[in-house]
Amino acid sequence: MQIAARDQLIVALDVPQVDQARQLVETLGEAVSFYKVGMELIYGNGFGFVSELTRAGKKVFLDLKLHDIPNTVQKATEQVAHLGVTFLTVHAYPQTMRAAKAGCLNSQMQILGVTVMTSYDDQDLRDAGYDKSVQDVVRIRAEAARDIGIGGLILSAEEVAAMRLHIGKDLLLVTPGIRPADSDSHDQKRFMTPKDAILAGANHLVVGRPVTQAKNPKAAALSIIQEIHTTNQKI
Ligand code: C5P
Repeated sequence: MQIAARDQLIVALDVPQVDQARQLVETLGEAVSFYKVGMELIYGNGFGFVSELTRAGKKVFLDLKLHDIPNTVQKATEQVAHLGVTFLTVHAYPQTMRAAKAGCLNSQMQILGVTVMTSYDDQDLRDAGYDKSVQDVVRIRAEAARDIGIGGLILSAEEVAAMRLHIGKDLLLVTPGIRPADSDSHDQKRFMTPKDAILAGANHLVVGRPVTQAKNPKAAALSIIQEIHTTNQKI
C-alpha cells in the first residue's frame, strides 16, 4: 500500500531542549505529520514531549538504538510501545531484533534495525573484532531483519537501491542524508535528493536541517512533500 507523501517525510527534531522542539512543531503545523526524536532530546527530558506529540496526532520515530540482553530489550520496547510511537530503532543483532519484535506484540509500533553505523568503515569493524567488511555485515543483518520479520531498516540513501533489490519489498527502508537540490549539504558527504531516494526504493525520508534551519521551515517541508508526491506518481 502506498504511504501518503506527507507521512513519508520524517522531520528530525535534533535540538537539546523540549521548548525548541515544541516551537519547531508549532511552526511546521499541519504540514508535517511525522517526527524523529533521538537521544539528545530524550535525555533532555524528552519522554513527556514524545507523549505530547502522539496525543497531538503526530507520528513519532523514536531513535533510541536499543541493544541489551533480550529480556531488557523486550521490556524496554513494551514501555516505548505504551507511548504510542510508530517506529523504534534497535541495533540489528538477531537476539535484539527478536526481543524487540516480541515487545511490540500488542501494539502498532514497528521496529527498525540499524545494520552498521554509517560512521564505521571496514577498519573500524576490524578494530571492534569483526573479520567481515561493512558491506557483508550490512547484508547479513538485513537478511536477519527480514527473516525475523521486523518492520524495516534505517540505512543511508546510497545503500537503498541495492538493499531494495536484495531484500525485496517486505521491509520499510528509512533513509537520512537527504538534501533537496537547492539546499546546503551541511556535514553530509553522501546525500540524495528526495526524488532520487524515493526512486531508489525508500519508503520514508528523514530530513533535519534542510527543514529545521530553513528561512521558512513550513515551505521547505511542503516543497519536499510535493517532490515526494510527484515522484510517487512515476513509480
Ligand atoms: O540535518 P540532517 O538532515 O543531516 O539530519 C539527518 C538526521 O538523520 C540526523 O538526526 C542524523 O543523526 C540522522 N542520521 C544521519 N545519518 C546516518 C544515520 C542517522 O544523518 N547514517
